[in-house]
Amino acid sequence: MLLSLEAIRYKNNKFEILNQLLLPQEFIYEDCSSVEQGFSAIKTMKVRGAPAIAISAALCLAIELKNLKSKLNLVETKKYIFEKLDYLCESRPTAVNLFKMADEMKSILQNELIHLENDIAGGESLKNLFIKKAEELLQIDISDNMSIGHFGAECFAKQSQVKILTHCNTGSLATAGYGTALGIIRTLHSQGKLEHAYACETRPYNQGARLTAFELVYEKISATLISDSMASFLMKEKGIHGVVVGADRVVANGDTANKIGTYQLAIAAKYHNIPFYVAAPSTSIDCNKKSGKEITIEERPKKELTHINNIQIAADGINVWNPSFDITPATLITGIVTELGVIPKNTIGEFDVSEFLEKKK
Ligand code: MRU
Repeated sequence: MLLSLEAIRYKNNKFEILNQLLLPQEFIYEDCSSVEQGFSAIKTMKVRGAPAIAISAALCLAIELKNLKSKLNLVETKKYIFEKLDYLCESRPTAVNLFKMADEMKSILQNELIHLENDIAGGESLKNLFIKKAEELLQIDISDNMSIGHFGAECFAKQSQVKILTHCNTGSLATAGYGTALGIIRTLHSQGKLEHAYACETRPYNQGARLTAFELVYEKISATLISDSMASFLMKEKGIHGVVVGADRVVANGDTANKIGTYQLAIAAKYHNIPFYVAAPSTSIDCNKKSGKEITIEERPKKELTHINNIQIAADGINVWNPSFDITPATLITGIVTELGVIPKNTIGEFDVSEFLEKKK
């Protein structure tokens, strides 16, 4: 029996990724010792989920740097790291965490350069700084998720028992641990407040059926799987108290990119007067974009829709549109739960995300 589910394992100079393409049938960790391997694991979605993508990108580079045989000088080290980060950023376009991690790392290293200019071992120091910062991301993400769990559970303070619907996978398998939206469900469960969780299967990649269901069963949380097409009827029939979902990118007005199908859940929740919460660490917030219109939506291969486990289920020759994410307008969102607290709505029903973050600094 596994002690805890981990999407990524980093210890004893080894970085391993749980191959989520094989779940739930097989539970196999694969060694990831290079940026090439990390890039491919992200692109093929062996590892997925906005925070896990960013952390995996940082850690595959950290391991590659640790194993680097040649000694690079300061300028060469900077060039090496910056180029690898740029390359990793080409893997998947929608989750902002990856881009923010790369920008932040570059700025930390850039600031350090000045102190290392005359240091003969400057290259090594810069490399070690990157490795240290990459390793720190694991713990930061877990503690952010636990805070999100706490603030998210408070949103249901008035109810004694709640039934919650979630979408996609936002748990331990999408993060360094604990999870965001699933972290809220986990917290409610640990407080004895969760009556039942419902998870959408999340076609076409089935993160809900394969991964969230796996986590819920593993954690012994009372839960039921539904197909995406059942969500409105579930809301009508089952007395759902809240919908909680994750985010790949929350922009300045609160518009949110998340797994395809999130938008229709938000519309259905509005119709049924059910609160709809987005759970996202500040690493998923992108205040450089004003509204959801500016977000690039990843389109995935057509085979993800036409096939299941390599078995074709759709007619040959049919056209396919496979956007991996959609944008939920801020006006449909009740609150955005971050590790710093819940961002409240403004007078026009959107969110002043930068203002909230500024105040919390
Ligand atoms: O395509 P995926 O599986 O990477 O999409 C995952 C999601 O949409 C999650 O809801 C989001 O990344 C948040 S994970 C904490």
